[in-house]
Amino acid sequence: MSGPASEYWKRRRGFILAAIGSAIGLGNIWRFSWLCYKDGGGAFLLPYFIALLIVGLPLIILEFLLGNYFSGSSPKVFSRIRKEFEVLGWIAVIDVFIIGTYYAVVLAWVMDYIGLSAMNAWVSAGGAGKLFSWLIGSPWLVLIGLLLTWFITWVTVFKGVSGGIERACTFAIPTLWVLSAILVIRGITLPGADTGINWYLTPNWAALGNGQVWIDAFGQILFTLSVMAAPLIVYASYMPKKSELPNSAWITAFANCGYSFFFGFATWGIIGYLMAINHVTNPAHLKVPLGGGGLAFVTIPTAVSKLPGAPVTSAVFGTIFFIILWLAGYTSLISIVEPMYAALRDKFGVTRRATVSAISVLSIIIGLAFVINPGYIDPVDFITGTTNLIWVVMLESIIAAYYLGVKKLRDYANPYAELKLGVWLDALLMIVAPASLGIILVYGLLSTKAITPLSAVVLLAIIIASILLAGMSWRKKEGGEAA
Ligand code: PHE
Repeated sequence: MSGPASEYWKRRRGFILAAIGSAIGLGNIWRFSWLCYKDGGGAFLLPYFIALLIVGLPLIILEFLLGNYFSGSSPKVFSRIRKEFEVLGWIAVIDVFIIGTYYAVVLAWVMDYIGLSAMNAWVSAGGAGKLFSWLIGSPWLVLIGLLLTWFITWVTVFKGVSGGIERACTFAIPTLWVLSAILVIRGITLPGADTGINWYLTPNWAALGNGQVWIDAFGQILFTLSVMAAPLIVYASYMPKKSELPNSAWITAFANCGYSFFFGFATWGIIGYLMAINHVTNPAHLKVPLGGGGLAFVTIPTAVSKLPGAPVTSAVFGTIFFIILWLAGYTSLISIVEPMYAALRDKFGVTRRATVSAISVLSIIIGLAFVINPGYIDPVDFITGTTNLIWVVMLESIIAAYYLGVKKLRDYANPYAELKLGVWLDALLMIVAPASLGIILVYGLLSTKAITPLSAVVLLAIIIASILLAGMSWRKKEGGEAA
């Protein structure tokens, strides 16, 4: 089980569920429906869908093919294409590792909220907003949530690909869907739900004239699909050779985006209810956050605490909501730990158990900074969760298209593919995807207000660490592998 590189998924279904588990995360729940609302309602589905078709799908297919073709982690994949590219693989892996350090802190808050909502703690705290400030200011409580979150994640990844990750996702993803369906049904049947859902989906086509809307769509697609040159590459490397891959990529992408759309009905049904009981017709007048952590930790709890049948129903639906959020994030966090382990395994021959333990402990230690000062999360996320994704993935598609050749990969996958890959994939990966990513990178950087010193330090640290790791020699047994 801990032997290098010889692990496989038990079933194709397990692989797909794990990939969906990586994709579905906090972003689907608190970001997607908010982007719809602010970026043109139903009209946002157009740029979102275009981003999915011209960047999301080709890249998710590419990552599945790369991981499977080279049977390994990102540094191995890129160094096999050309030694000088190995560093890009490390950048991706370290970037994702850093995402994990703060992603887990958010999950720690969620974990605490599972308990707090079961106790209707927002009532005793005098409101959901007060409860959240109190929790953020209670590092010990957050630390407990963090240790629990990491303990469960550690156990899962420690147990290996089929015994740990596959089992966890096979349980967690269906559970997530069932619980979400319960919340959607509750959401859409609340008084005022239709008004909320109208704000979520009524198209405002004029909004599409705004460049930011398109950046949001492309950025969201990369983040939500976990397309970041690390998790999906590793997951696909655990499929045996001669496996079906392209259709698995389509299934993953559509399950993920479908989930976001579906869950939006729960969120906006509940927001509509909150509007109804506050007698406002515009959600902006609610003066509560409609996306991000504020939506999850303040707005939804506020609405839930006023549900018909409160306090029992508040405790029940509040707890369900935070379990959903935690499960979604947990299956993503698993896919954040695995790539770093796999990279170190490929390069240095380290064993799973020791490495996964070390990664978890190190993540907790770095995470303490975010526990103590959650204000660090945004500037770090701006680099690791947004900017780096775009340029790393852009280089990934350029390298694959021009130095390896998309045709080679297509010929490799097509004999076993349920959906055949045609030259359209070459066109997308050679031109369309890199060009669109290049445009949004430049536009995004120009329109951003300030890059903080912290963002710059993180970026520099990632690059230096990657150069150092890429410069070290590969373990003896796989000697020459890098060439
Ligand atoms: N796709 C996840 C989400 O939408 C985020 C994620 C980031 C997953 C990094 C894996 C790796 O929340």
